[in-house]
Amino acid sequence: MSKQILCLPGDGIGPEIVVEALKVLDVVKSQFDLDIEVSEGLVGGASLDAHGVPLTDEVLAVAKKSDGILFGAVGGPKWDDQPMMNRPERGLLKLRSEMGLFANLRPAMLFPQLAEASSLKHELVAGLDILIVRELTGGIYFGEPRGVRTLENGEREGYNSYVYRESEIKRIAKVAFEAAQKRGGRLTSVDKSNVLEVTALWRELVTEMGAADYSDVELSHMYVDNAAMQLVRAPKQFDVMVTGNMFGDILSDCAAMLTGSIGMLPSASLNEANQGMYEPVHGSAPDIAGQGKANPLAQILSLAMLLRYSLGEIEAADAIEKAVSDVLDQGLRTGDIASEGCTQVGTTEMGDAVVKCLQVLSS
Ligand code: NAD
Ligand code: IPM
Ligand code: MN
Repeated sequence: MSKQILCLPGDGIGPEIVVEALKVLDVVKSQFDLDIEVSEGLVGGASLDAHGVPLTDEVLAVAKKSDGILFGAVGGPKWDDQPMMNRPERGLLKLRSEMGLFANLRPAMLFPQLAEASSLKHELVAGLDILIVRELTGGIYFGEPRGVRTLENGEREGYNSYVYRESEIKRIAKVAFEAAQKRGGRLTSVDKSNVLEVTALWRELVTEMGAADYSDVELSHMYVDNAAMQLVRAPKQFDVMVTGNMFGDILSDCAAMLTGSIGMLPSASLNEANQGMYEPVHGSAPDIAGQGKANPLAQILSLAMLLRYSLGEIEAADAIEKAVSDVLDQGLRTGDIASEGCTQVGTTEMGDAVVKCLQVLSS
């Protein structure tokens, strides 16, 4: 039976970069004889405009049945005055939470060709290969109660709740320990346990699990403020980092820049049934949307992750990653990763170049 991929381009640069990933998918489908059917749906602002909600029940139902979801990006100034629970971003958050996509893997590795594009000195980032494991369906993003209330004196007060259950902490820690076992054997758990009870519980449980089940993993703990500083001071000290939803959001944008651009960073969001949604770490980039300037490589690398993790098509995933590296070898760069002596290209040219490299690889 053919595998089903649901493609959700979303808003802003989302549709521009997803088109490039789909071109790449077409090539690997024929090269590796993959039986894959792709369907498309609306999410975010695009869905709001068409249906009045950022995610319809129909699209959610298709997502739940898919073998993999390729997600672009959502959001933009057009919808910024929507009520919180109807913003484009809610479409993404609902997909994550309804599908139980709790484990967000955000690898940050430097393609050696992009050392010049990193904002850090070459020696600090050469060989950089970090995996951020971000908890994605809990924490302050989803904790109750939340809202804005009016106090007795008429002043308004906004509030959110930072909540984690033991089971939520243990299942994300397990993913991170196991990832560390397969990689460099080191895990840094990032928290704010000096201030927040919820993260003191996090540290306690991660410590217990490390001692009981993962004595082969070298476990350390770091406060999130220090972790942000260490990421830009000496990022290669990290192998796997595990943290909660909001800290992971912030630290992964920070790690992105070490690799040259947020336009290079893919991600996978997995549930307990190993279903997955794959998306770039960046957003809809309204400042460059519609201009043909966006870097499609994070989206293309997200497709490679989908093929690797959800479809088990390792050769096709390897070929895509090799083609991306070859394009960088040729000196082609979108504006975000541009450097002296390289050829600046747009979104479509970059996608075409990856396609061409794949074709050369197979000939
Ligand atoms: P952003 O990631 O969209 O953009 C930040 C900066 O990075 C911008 O200057 C942008 O031009 C640049 N950039 C991002 N992706 C790029 C790419 N592929 N190529 C070249 N440059 C790129 O973050 P933001 O500006 O804070 O947010 C814009 C909108 O996106 C907001 O509505 C936000 O909620 C949404 N957002 C969505 C997602 C998602 O869908 N997963 C993630 C983050 C932000
Ligand atoms: C991300 C984004 C999302 C998040 C937003 C758009 C809901 O920033 O995927 O990193 O905060 O998780
Ligand atoms: Mn983010």
